[in-house]
Amino acid sequence: MVNVYPPSEDTHLLMRAAIAEARPDDSVIEIGCGSGMISESLAGRVRSIVATDINPHAVKATASLGIPAVRADLFHGISYKFDLILFNPPYLPAEDALDSEDDKWLSAALDGGADGREVIARFLKGVKDVMSPRGRILLLISSLTGPEEVMELAQASGLTTEIVARERYFFEELYVLKLRSSV
Ligand SMILES: C[S@@+](CC[C@H](N)C(=O)[O-])C[C@H]1O[C@@H](n2cnc3c(N)ncnc32)[C@H](O)[C@@H]1O
Repeated sequence: MVNVYPPSEDTHLLMRAAIAEARPDDSVIEIGCGSGMISESLAGRVRSIVATDINPHAVKATASLGIPAVRADLFHGISYKFDLILFNPPYLPAEDALDSEDDKWLSAALDGGADGREVIARFLKGVKDVMSPRGRILLLISSLTGPEEVMELAQASGLTTEIVARERYFFEELYVLKLRSSV
C-alpha cells in the first residue's frame, strides 16, 4: 500500500519550473504537496513556503521536512494571498487512474474524475482568492487531462495561460501551465 504519491516525472517537471519561476521575495503555497519534495526544493530560495494536502500522510511527510503543512481541501480555510501557487493535481481521467480501495490515497493523487479535470476546475474557480496582485500559478497537467479545456477553464476564471514547460513520455505529454490574473 502506498500512502503518499512517490515523486515521479511530473514532480520533477513542476519542480524545475518552480525553481526557475521563484523569486527570493515570493510567498509560496504548494497545494497537494505529497512527499513535500517540491516545497523542500524551494525552501531557502523564497521568502516563505507553506503546503496543503487532503491526504494526512502527505501532510505528515511534508511537515517532517520542516515545511509548514496543513490538511485542507485545496486552499479552503486559508485567507492569505500568495505570490506563487504550485499544484501538481490529480489530473488523470478516472478510467486511466488507479482505482483500488487498498490504495485509496494513491487513487486520490491520480484520479481527476470522469474527465480528469474535476479537482482542477474547483482549483481554478477559487484560486484568485488566495493570489496576490503579482501572483503566478504553475499548474501541471497531462495531454490526457485535455490541455485546451483546462486553458478554457482558466480563461473563464480570469486567468491568462502560457505553457512554460513540456515533456513527452510513453503514453502522455506533461505540461506546466503558468497562469496569471488577466485583470
Ligand atoms: C499527483 S500528486 C502530486 C504530489 C506532489 N506534489 C508531487 O508532485 O509529487 C497529487 C497530490 O494532490 C493531493 N490532492 C488531491 N486532491 C486534493 C485536494 N482536493 N486538496 C488538496 N490536495 C489534494 C493528493 O493527495 C496528492 O498528494
